[in-house]
Amino acid sequence: MALSQAAALVEKAIGHSSNATTAQDITNPARDRAKYADPSGEKMKALVWMGKNKVEVQEVPKPRVVEDRDVVLKVTGSTVCGSDLHLLHGTVVEMEKGDILGHEFCGVVESMGPGVKNLKVGDRVVASFQIACGECYYCKKKQSSQCEKTNSNTIENGMYGGRTAGMFGYSHFTGGFAGGQAEYVRVPYGDVNLLKLPANVPDEKGLYLSDVLCTSWNAVVDTGVQKGDVVAIWGAGPIGQMAADFAFINGASRVIMIDSNWRLDYVKSKYPKVETLDYSTLPRGTTVSAKLNEIVERGPDVAIECVAGEYAKGWAHYFELLLGMETDTSEIVNEMITSVKNFGRCGITGVYVGYTNHFNIGSLMERGIRLIGNGQAPVHMFWEKLCGMIESSEIDPLKMVSHRVSMDELDTVYYKFEKKEDGMQKVFVETKFSAPPCAGSPTLTRFNK
Ligand SMILES: NC(=O)c1ccc[n+]([C@@H]2O[C@H](COP(=O)([O-])OP(=O)(O)OC[C@H]3O[C@@H](n4cnc5c(N)ncnc54)[C@H](O)[C@@H]3O)[C@@H](O)[C@H]2O)c1
Ligand SMILES: [Zn+2]
Ligand SMILES: [Zn+2]
Repeated sequence: MALSQAAALVEKAIGHSSNATTAQDITNPARDRAKYADPSGEKMKALVWMGKNKVEVQEVPKPRVVEDRDVVLKVTGSTVCGSDLHLLHGTVVEMEKGDILGHEFCGVVESMGPGVKNLKVGDRVVASFQIACGECYYCKKKQSSQCEKTNSNTIENGMYGGRTAGMFGYSHFTGGFAGGQAEYVRVPYGDVNLLKLPANVPDEKGLYLSDVLCTSWNAVVDTGVQKGDVVAIWGAGPIGQMAADFAFINGASRVIMIDSNWRLDYVKSKYPKVETLDYSTLPRGTTVSAKLNEIVERGPDVAIECVAGEYAKGWAHYFELLLGMETDTSEIVNEMITSVKNFGRCGITGVYVGYTNHFNIGSLMERGIRLIGNGQAPVHMFWEKLCGMIESSEIDPLKMVSHRVSMDELDTVYYKFEKKEDGMQKVFVETKFSAPPCAGSPTLTRFNK
């Protein structure tokens, strides 16, 4: 049995703990229509997980306000994240058939509970991917991704010795909340988890405050990029690309991105200051670390991981992952450790699920390497500042957006995104509620005529 389903069964047997102050496991209003579906009986389109490597656009019930501080949004934009691939692949545990995905979305307030005082119907807002209560120990410090009141999952607590906040569309492991790859979405604690978008920030830019912009910013500042640093970034996906931009903004003198496909050409065209290293072209016997030490004296000061632990490079980890002997490969983390200067810093932002083998703890210890888990990024700490930077045109999220697609075809988009087909990376998913594309946005691509 897949680890994912086994974990879900154990969770059912042990039960949740009682810390959460918002209802758990509402991953689809159809789970209990009387409690969670809009009484009108209205249906909506949503992207639903249907088992390992299978997603479908389905008609499901529209959600309703369940708790006092809930907001229901008409979704006007969403996207697909590298994290959604970990769900598609069943790498993140405790997915269940019928779960609605999507943790990055923006929209317009449609209805809300009486506890929401700072918003009104019609407000245009973006949601944070994590669900924070706004009041607990971590929320008070704006460490919103670690809110103590929105996720009562006992497996996560057992595995990690503590747990993260609840998250939209990110399995029962993080509370079990329906996501925003849908026409409507319910936002618990809507008064703290929604940021109003200024009139000069269109959906096509504001949407990315949900996750990717805050995550990339966090990767850079949490790993401690300082003036003059040489920064190496593994993974030239959207997270890596924005981290490259943000490394320069935070004073990096050079940024080198490591990947193995067309994304490096994309980087060269859109981010001309960034240097690239295609590891697939290295001569036999030349490692990424050796190459980096050749192009940077003593190696980079900082390394940032924007890939994930599920993608094995060599056969050893491929089989260990397949056989369940580890949940994550240590190959990239080891490359980072052996690449940076002595006393260098390495930050992990790509998703790692559990345990890894063959970790180079010796190099870490002897050479004084600082290995930093950047965590699920605390969106609430950074989103206002980053919104201001969009307003002043200091940053342009549209740089990483390759396609505009329709909610109706989101299942097709998932598979294309997974295979990196058609030059696809960050997308903007429109719904029937979206405004026409803003200036600079790609035009709509249709796949199934
Ligand atoms: N910590 C957080 O809060 C947070 C938030 C969002 C996303 N993430 C994670 O960040 C990671 C990146 O996200 P994304 O949307 O850019 O993903 P993506 O899948 O679009 O990009 C990942 C890139 O890594 C490359 N890659 C694969 N193996 C590699 C290797 N051995 N060396 C170098 N590059 C390699 C791939 O070719 C791809 O271009 C994902 O794991 C995602 O889940 C974390
Ligand atoms: Zn994400
Ligand atoms: Zn909290």
